[in-house]
Amino acid sequence: MTVHIGAKPGEIAETVLLPGDPYRAKWAAETFLTDATCVNETRGMLGFTGAWNGNRVTIQGSGMGMPSLSIYVNELIRDYGARTLIRIGSCGGMQPEVKLRDVILAMTASTVSSPSATIFREVNFAPSANWQLLAAAERAARAKAVPIHVGGIYSSDTFYDERPDLTEQMTRHGILGVEMEAAELYTLALRHGVRALAVLTVSDHLQTHEALPSDQREKSFGDMVEIALTAAFS
Ligand code: HPA
Repeated sequence: MTVHIGAKPGEIAETVLLPGDPYRAKWAAETFLTDATCVNETRGMLGFTGAWNGNRVTIQGSGMGMPSLSIYVNELIRDYGARTLIRIGSCGGMQPEVKLRDVILAMTASTVSSPSATIFREVNFAPSANWQLLAAAERAARAKAVPIHVGGIYSSDTFYDERPDLTEQMTRHGILGVEMEAAELYTLALRHGVRALAVLTVSDHLQTHEALPSDQREKSFGDMVEIALTAAFS
């Protein structure tokens, strides 16, 4: 048991999927895992451990934003021995070729500021995904014929952004999408020598202002969970 996770030692698997939404963790565990049991309810940030194709997996909510994710990921790695951490979440598309429901595999995650920013001082650290996981996720997505884009994303501190110029510059520099967690996940994984990846479904688009209706989010979310699980155990 840690400050924010109530699981007993041994109740968390070495492979952890991290949706932002705790109810997405419940849905994914009930849909894709066998023998899933709830291992965390602290603050309602649900976590479940079960099996996928005979492999032990935990699906733990991370909350929204880097400060929240940072708490869970620190405790998962340092106290529970997590070795492979894959964020499964949504993002806003930032390029014309990136369409609603497409999946983005985030090679890098740029950020203005993450909870780790203070340790880098003058260095513009480049948080990057684990290559082995990224390559395996790309193969898994192609095998399922899910449209994917591989490249850089932007981890923002705000959902309701007041800096249209920043969005413009990110788009100009080829950033595929915006979300709020991956940069800190990648930084923590690199710091602790474990593997991380963010697999993201495009749920809205910053240029076209389209958004995925809520009844269509589940199917796209399911593709993403399967890509993440396949990549984790490839
Ligand atoms: N901005 C930030 N985070 C997001 C977005 C967005 O447009 N869509 C999904 N997560």
